[in-house]
Amino acid sequence: MGSPAQVVTVRVPAKVNVQLAVGPPRADGFHDLANVFLAVGIHDHVTAAPADALAVTCAGPGSDDVPLDPEANLAARAATLLAALHGIEPAVRLHIDKDIPVAGGMAGGSADAAGALLACDTLWGTATPRPELLKLCAELGSDVPFSLVGGAALGRGRGELLTGLPVSGAFHWVFALAEGGLSTPAVYRECDRLRDAEGVHPPRPEPTPALLDALRDGDAHALAATLANDLETAALSLRPSLAATLAAGAEAGALAGLVSGSGPTCAFLAEDADAAARVAAALRAGGTCRDARATTGPAAGATTIESHA
Ligand code: C5P
Repeated sequence: MGSPAQVVTVRVPAKVNVQLAVGPPRADGFHDLANVFLAVGIHDHVTAAPADALAVTCAGPGSDDVPLDPEANLAARAATLLAALHGIEPAVRLHIDKDIPVAGGMAGGSADAAGALLACDTLWGTATPRPELLKLCAELGSDVPFSLVGGAALGRGRGELLTGLPVSGAFHWVFALAEGGLSTPAVYRECDRLRDAEGVHPPRPEPTPALLDALRDGDAHALAATLANDLETAALSLRPSLAATLAAGAEAGALAGLVSGSGPTCAFLAEDADAAARVAAALRAGGTCRDARATTGPAAGATTIESHA
């Protein structure tokens, strides 16, 4: 064990799925995926400090919609799981500063879980080996391992089995943030319902070779041509107004746009930083979204930015 700190703050990124290929539902209710994750520069911060008992607070946009009950809050569950592994009490006060949209399809809850694991591991000096941390991440949720690792990765299984992917340079993104969220299980259910209604039998999900090449080469035009999200039709079915957001981004000059994960955030790829700023300004002015943010990806995974006694 290392020497425990008194306060630890971890920064953890949002993600966009540049490809989300979804197979049929499995016996356990999850879907096999070919999930190409890219971490992007919108971050939550998780701060851990000693306390008599586990408690969570949350601030920032949408924080009223984050459950603070330790049974339901993913960051609190992460602390409980890590403490149990080491046979200690989860005596910690967690504070989450949110910037990642809540229930927005950008893995905000997963980010908070990964951030809490790293913050508590540092606070408690438990020095959990990385493979053990990744196992805890997978227990907490399909996207949590990627939130810890960041960068770019292919997720197989339900998204938790990661292989890192090479990326050249940085891609420029704009995220159109929506009012309110979408429930991930509801979007997967809608995807299954629409496929059943249309008699569609999805093939085994596989990553698109040209998309992996585009990431490796840092080729934004090639990436734009290969972006794909099998959940997009379902997200649009549950939130038809997203069609106007996607159209607005295209009109504003984005190379391509898609729903981010299970939505309702929409993601637009831009040629460069200037183009991204223009697309973001047009989206903000157009009124089809609550706000628009320009940023880049890949971004680093969960990172300790402050640790002091
Ligand atoms: O793993 P996580 O808790 O983030 O998943 C939330 C929900 O999303 C699951 O309960 C399931 O309904 C759906 N899901 C899925 N297949 C996946 C990942 C998530 O059906 N691969």
